[in-house]
Amino acid sequence: MRSHLLNDTTTEHYRRSVTEGVERVAAKVATTDRPFTGVAVDALSPRIEQIDLDRPLYDTTAVLDELEDVYLRDAIYFHHPRYLAHLNCPVVIPALLGEAVLSAVNSSLDTWDQSAGGTLIERKLIDWTARRIGLGPGADGVFTSGGTQSNLQALLLAREEAKSEDLAKLRVFASEAGHFSVQKSAKLLGLGPDAVVPIPVDHDKRLQTVALAHELERCVEAGLVPMAVVATAGTTDFGSIDPLPEIAELCAQYGVWMHVDAAYGCGLLASLKYRDRVDGIERADSVTVDYHKSFFQPVSSSAVLVRDAATLRHATYHAEYLNPRRMVTERIPNQVDKSLQTTRRFDALKLWMTLRVMGADGIGRLFDEVCDLAAEGWKLLAADPRFDVVVEPSLSTLVFRCIPAAVTDPAEIDRANLYARKALFASGDAVVAGTKVAGRHYLKFTLLNPETTTADITAVLDLIAGHAEQYLGESLDRAS
Ligand SMILES: Cc1ncc(COP(=O)(O)O)c(C=O)c1O
Repeated sequence: MRSHLLNDTTTEHYRRSVTEGVERVAAKVATTDRPFTGVAVDALSPRIEQIDLDRPLYDTTAVLDELEDVYLRDAIYFHHPRYLAHLNCPVVIPALLGEAVLSAVNSSLDTWDQSAGGTLIERKLIDWTARRIGLGPGADGVFTSGGTQSNLQALLLAREEAKSEDLAKLRVFASEAGHFSVQKSAKLLGLGPDAVVPIPVDHDKRLQTVALAHELERCVEAGLVPMAVVATAGTTDFGSIDPLPEIAELCAQYGVWMHVDAAYGCGLLASLKYRDRVDGIERADSVTVDYHKSFFQPVSSSAVLVRDAATLRHATYHAEYLNPRRMVTERIPNQVDKSLQTTRRFDALKLWMTLRVMGADGIGRLFDEVCDLAAEGWKLLAADPRFDVVVEPSLSTLVFRCIPAAVTDPAEIDRANLYARKALFASGDAVVAGTKVAGRHYLKFTLLNPETTTADITAVLDLIAGHAEQYLGESLDRAS
């Protein structure tokens, strides 16, 4: 069994095994003609159930054959131009190379003595990102597992910086289109059930600053303490970007921590055309960026950035066995001092390889392409009488619903759209997401693939309309 441990005697086995795996994936990617096979849970689960984990196959090729059956054949393929659903992107090859290197070396970014250069690379990428945001010379941050963790850490710092120890009094303001990790974070941070105050959005799904000003004033008058405003730069559903400069003004006026959740919109930091859409982000106290959403990085790759490095001390604990306090004076850089995690992947390497091979402009161009595609998609939808489209995109999502001719009952329209999404998924021809707008069911394209064309969008819209019509036909048959 020692032959499976990677060391100086097994490098040939390592090379062969990994190459075999890479070959399988490459073959799959080269031949996959749909984003999904449409396999049903009931069909797939017995195949996995029947595998006895206590009876190994002892052979890599046999295991890869088995993997084909239980995973590769029916996986969801994000590189496919008709995968149009969630905020999970196709990935760039330099990042995959980084992934292969980082998992083989297996650095852990908690301490210098488990990472060495890895720590310095991560720090340099944090500085690079902070500069792109414009956070100023005192900025810092750390890589995290994702936007959820980044938001949690930012709100932890905001809580510790808030001018009240009474957790029940603290209030967090976020648009009603903000991400649910804000609510989860409030719960984890011990805030009260009413801690998150939802702020209404305008027609373009951007936080209404007049309403925010009103709520901040009400909060203070009631003797409560505004702890943070979470501005979203790219809402999950609409890609809408809250008015950052106005929010920054209000935060300054009320002395409130400004967090910008740019998990999705961070791609604009590399954009050659649309960087100004996140102007004002430089005034934040903290920022969430998900490179695994709009920098074409594999999951996981995210970071939380802060304007004032000193605020990261709220996440610092010292352990004799890992990062004793004396190491701070010895200037030994232990990233665990800034992180909620202890053992932590060297995810930063993927971004490093990407920037070194492609450059930030390379990423920015890809992101600009998907923003342009969304603008084209919006025009198509707006001109198509079969569909109602919600807002003109600031990033790359389109929220719409099919309005079949002659159907006026909103509940029936809901059912037709729900059916269309399900039928499309089951066919595997395309994958789209769904959401609710004003209580009604809508469909959603999250366009993150520069390979997707307007022809793909047109084709998928036709498929959706076809499934909706089929539902209505069957519905009429049922009624008669
Ligand atoms: C705006 C926003 N913030 C935060 C998150 C959470 O990010 P993650 O899924 O990486 O935890 C998401 C995920 O979609 C998001 O859209």
